[in-house]
Amino acid sequence: MLKKWTNRKEEENNTSEEASLDPQNIPEHVAIIMDGNGRWAKKRGLPRVAGHREGMNVIKKIVKTSNKLGVKTLTLYAFSTENWKRPKPEVDFLMRLPERFLKAELPQLIEENVQVRITGSKEALPGHTRDAVNKAIEDTSGNDGLILNFALNYGSRHEMVEAMKDVYKEIERGRLAIEDVTEDIIGSHLMTGGLKDPDLLIRTSGEIRLSNFMLWQLAYSEFWFTEVLWPDFTEKHFKEAIVVYQKRTRRFGGV
Ligand code: IPE
Ligand code: IPE
Ligand code: MG
Repeated sequence: MLKKWTNRKEEENNTSEEASLDPQNIPEHVAIIMDGNGRWAKKRGLPRVAGHREGMNVIKKIVKTSNKLGVKTLTLYAFSTENWKRPKPEVDFLMRLPERFLKAELPQLIEENVQVRITGSKEALPGHTRDAVNKAIEDTSGNDGLILNFALNYGSRHEMVEAMKDVYKEIERGRLAIEDVTEDIIGSHLMTGGLKDPDLLIRTSGEIRLSNFMLWQLAYSEFWFTEVLWPDFTEKHFKEAIVVYQKRTRRFGGV
């Protein structure tokens, strides 16, 4: 079984970059679990943070490519609610990255009509990180192009607990009847409320798991995994993932 799966994966990963993308079938929402920064650095005898720095440069390229291809929403898993378990110097470095990225890239993002969003708990972020992301959200709020959504201090189970509490409060206040609770209502109380569910999920670095990412929203997404470490991820890999996505038949439980 494992072998069969591996073969299928290799076959998919061999898709030539030349293979033409169908411009009519570009996934509207692509979500990426950007993983493998630490291993990338370790392989080079560098500290883990060097991998995070390099990974930041890849983000720029993938944003550009997404915009060019007509992807409407790009969600990037940048920091999970579990990543606080890491050594403090690494967490501190990761919490400086949004500022560094936005300081360098915000003018360009504004020019490219990108809307910056955050999915996650902003309250627990250090003040400097929160200020940087709030500024980016505000400065790009008039744009109507690509939604660049950073999942920052995001955890799907935490998100669901918060959504359930919100729905319960509405019931308690008499604004909502239990029998009127629907999937749409639950969905609208999630931190992604208003965003379409991802069509395509990409995870780099060879890990085949979700790590608490969008457990509700990924119910019918197509998954594409690659061994490539995030700092080595290129436009070519991104296009490969989309070519594979375009070959899939999405049935949503139908025929
Ligand atoms: C992904 O790379 C970035 C974050 C989780 C913040 P990792 O730091 O997890 O790198 P590996 O998985 O240890 O190689
Ligand atoms: C998932 O990667 C989180 C992000 C990419 C931000 P992790 O490296 O934290 O996941 P695990 O621990 O390997 O599952
Ligand atoms: Mg990792």
